[in-house]
Amino acid sequence: MMKTTVKKCLFPAAGYGTRFLPATKAMPKEMLPVLNKPLIQYGVEEAVDAGCETMAIVTGRGKRAIEDHFDISYELEHQIKGTSKEHYLSEIRNLICKCNFSYTRQVQMKGLGHAILTGEILIGQEPFAVLLADDLCDAPNKGVLAQMMQVYEQYGCCVVAIEEVPKSQTNRYGIIAGQLIDGKDDIYRVETMVEKPDPKDAPSNLAIIGRYILTPDIFDILRETKAGVGGEIQITDALLELAKKGKVIAYRFEGKRFDCGSVDGFVMAINHFYEISKA
Ligand code: G1P
Repeated sequence: MMKTTVKKCLFPAAGYGTRFLPATKAMPKEMLPVLNKPLIQYGVEEAVDAGCETMAIVTGRGKRAIEDHFDISYELEHQIKGTSKEHYLSEIRNLICKCNFSYTRQVQMKGLGHAILTGEILIGQEPFAVLLADDLCDAPNKGVLAQMMQVYEQYGCCVVAIEEVPKSQTNRYGIIAGQLIDGKDDIYRVETMVEKPDPKDAPSNLAIIGRYILTPDIFDILRETKAGVGGEIQITDALLELAKKGKVIAYRFEGKRFDCGSVDGFVMAINHFYEISKA
């Protein structure tokens, strides 16, 4: 576990998961399992590994299963205590011991920027990470958030994780453009960023994926940010204000990322994690 000044990780988890209906009708999409572990648990493990101690989860209606997952189930503990099945619980038990969970509800779904602003009450005035659990990442050496923490410690400003995507897919992501800095081939100073541009308008094919480290001045900016693409308050639009002042770094991370918000990406993730579990 690394030492960092970023101690809290915010998880926006209020979305409806419409692309996974009917599976998500009565179950949060964050609880969909890849093998035997729900998506949000992979996210919490990545955040703990990056040195975060508090998981600040922005939930919504119908998301109670997330809170129950990160709590003791006395009935279950009682049933399997002393049996050969007890070890199945040890991983989640250990994880719960390593961090705190705090929750708030987003009453209206007004976009990712709005979800992050809703989490302000759990974060306060300190830098924090944001992790979108449906972007599931697997990195060979060090988790993606832990990699980003090192970048944050060096530059002390907002950091977004990026990867190259086919130009035809720019309308699915926040897209950045900027200059490589300090002779590195994976660190950009962001000059502009735009949410879900048409390929013909996209300033590059460098897409933001669901990992951010944000400084708390983002909250005041979000309060002033008007609804953008899709009628939603976009974190990309708020970050653009900081990028104009040179205060956003984009980091091309090491590792693989699966879009588990889509059925195709979800199936790829399952195959990937199955292969490594057998290796
Ligand atoms: C959100 C962000 C987008 C980012 C994406 C990463 O979009 O708005 O900028 O590229 O997450 O997954 P969403 O996928 O929630 O529409």
